[in-house]
Amino acid sequence: MKKEAMEVLLNRRAIRKFKADPIPAELLDAVLEAGTYAPTGSGRQSPVIVVLQDEEKVNAIKKLNASVMGADRDPYYGAPVILLVLATDRAPNEEIAILDSASVTVNLLNAAYAVGLGSCWIHRCKEMFEKAEGKALLKEWGLDENLRGVCSIALGYADCEQPVPIPRKENYIIKL
Ligand SMILES: Cc1cc2nc3c(=O)[nH]c(=O)nc-3n(C[C@H](O)[C@H](O)[C@H](O)COP(=O)(O)O)c2cc1C
Repeated sequence: MKKEAMEVLLNRRAIRKFKADPIPAELLDAVLEAGTYAPTGSGRQSPVIVVLQDEEKVNAIKKLNASVMGADRDPYYGAPVILLVLATDRAPNEEIAILDSASVTVNLLNAAYAVGLGSCWIHRCKEMFEKAEGKALLKEWGLDENLRGVCSIALGYADCEQPVPIPRKENYIIKL
């Protein structure tokens, strides 16, 4: 069931415990399509969204991210699917490349919540694909080794209560 836009924007939360259940293809495709309609600089659609669903590829990224983090735990909280938002040379400069990827990531996160999925933005994507292991994975998957990591997302069904947001900080909004 689809949720209203404002409900999604206010109530989406980072999910940090996932069920192992796979995501139905139609829900995944709806989330991905929403990602492709995010605003990008000059409408150049510079990022690519790489979808990892098979266990071997998902585990390879979990291991790589954990090694960047320097911790022996799954940085993707058991999520069955990982989305990588990677920068390409379609952006005119690196600043736009990063902003475009962040924009796509936010659409993906909100769309996930809208279709009843849980998600969490996961850091260290840049470092993952600066490492030889990350570049080797891109090569193994038949992707351009020059893609740069910007954002990654843990995606799946939440295995926890919907988290309650912390209060918004004072003076977040400055009306002049
Ligand atoms: C740039 C960025 C990096 C993040 N990296 C991580 C991460 O590595 N692991 C994690 O659990 N959450 C990560 N998050 C999620 C934030 O911690 C989360 O969005 C924040 O605590 C607010 O919670 P909410 O999303 O539920 O509103 C990241 C969010 C952003 C925007």
